[in-house]
Amino acid sequence: MKVVIMGLGYIGLPTAALIASKNIEVHGVDINNGIIEIINKGKIHITEPDLEGLVSYVVSNKYLKAYTEPAKADVFIIAVPTPFKNDNQPDISYIESAAKMLIPYLEKENLVILESTSPVGTTEILADIFYQARPELKENLYISYCPERVLPGKVIYELEHNDRVIGGINEKSTQKAYDFYSLFVKGELHKSEAKTAEMCKLVENSYRDVNIAFANELSLICDKAGIDVYKLINLANRHPRVKILKPGVGVGGHCIAVDPWFIVHDYKEESKIIRCARDVNNYKTQWVINKIKEEITLFIDKNGRKPSVACLGLTFKADIDDMRESPALNVTKTLIKEGHDVLPVEPNIRNHKDIKIYDYNEAVDKADIIVLLVGHKEFKKIDLNVNKIVFDFVGF
Ligand SMILES: NC(=O)c1ccc[n+]([C@@H]2O[C@H](COP(=O)([O-])OP(=O)(O)OC[C@H]3O[C@@H](n4cnc5c(N)ncnc54)[C@H](O)[C@@H]3O)[C@@H](O)[C@H]2O)c1
Repeated sequence: MKVVIMGLGYIGLPTAALIASKNIEVHGVDINNGIIEIINKGKIHITEPDLEGLVSYVVSNKYLKAYTEPAKADVFIIAVPTPFKNDNQPDISYIESAAKMLIPYLEKENLVILESTSPVGTTEILADIFYQARPELKENLYISYCPERVLPGKVIYELEHNDRVIGGINEKSTQKAYDFYSLFVKGELHKSEAKTAEMCKLVENSYRDVNIAFANELSLICDKAGIDVYKLINLANRHPRVKILKPGVGVGGHCIAVDPWFIVHDYKEESKIIRCARDVNNYKTQWVINKIKEEITLFIDKNGRKPSVACLGLTFKADIDDMRESPALNVTKTLIKEGHDVLPVEPNIRNHKDIKIYDYNEAVDKADIIVLLVGHKEFKKIDLNVNKIVFDFVGF
């Protein structure tokens, strides 16, 4: 068996490495030449525990090789980005262009699996692209959707052990994909159909977004009421059927901050709570910015000079290097743009294209105001009783 994987990012590369580790030949494809070079040296371009060892192993054993073009294979997996455009409209152009790249290589009895998080109906669009270009494959090219639900930082374990939902455009496609995932997934495989599987992924992330929005809304209410929201949540969670999440700076990442829009965009009238949760979580970030700015103004009034502000954490969650849609990055960039003296700290990246990254100790020493934006393990040593103004937005 040979597998082609389109897109070697946070999802495609670990998937490629896991499949290759089962002694299956994997032909990885990415349009980014730099990524290809790194992978073919047995190295990785993202931070993910245990991934480099696995990639190094499968590349040196010749089960994984990366290319810029696809090849003939038995199974094709598409794991390319699905961002949204400025008006929150889903952008499936990466999927469409990956599909077009595959057209010349497809043969009878091949299986194509879409893993990218996608608006409902995308797998059917994919099928139309293939069947229009290659009508002779209409009866025997199988197409399925199988979304990813891994946790960054635990991707290798979860890829293998999480349950998966598989939905084909017809029963045979579902079965073919089921058989394929059975080769390397130990979690339970749940057969469904394409639309339900697509919606399932969107619903999972919308559920998380709505629950975080509830916690974030509580943090605003409690701030006004003079109540410690973290203590309150701990107490409320003693109720046997209550499980409130932790508030933070907002919601980021390529999934939870993006996928709910795929539902809102297509079901505007019906998706009131999902839409509202997006607004609450975005508002929380703005609220954090305003809080810091109020403190800066007070500091200037009192001391007659601008304070320096250490912003601890830039990624969208703790202990990873991913800054996509990161509210912490948004807070930091906004303060810098508005001319404040900001000392950004991010232990998980070496440098950033437009932000100077400071060493933790240097920033905390120099700063007048310390703002905890992400709960990285490196920040747990912080002394919250230090004689400085400290904002703890992560609940340390
Ligand atoms: N990162 C996660 O934790 C996560 C979890 C679940 C689902 N997803 C979904 O998985 C999909 C991929 O996400 P990701 O985080 O791996 O993205 P990513 O940006 O890390 O990687 C995508 C890769 O695809 C490449 N690419 C773009 N167009 C291509 C093409 N035509 N052919 C080949 N390669 C191409 C890009 O260069 C990039 O390296 C998205 O739909 C995302 O929503 C991601």
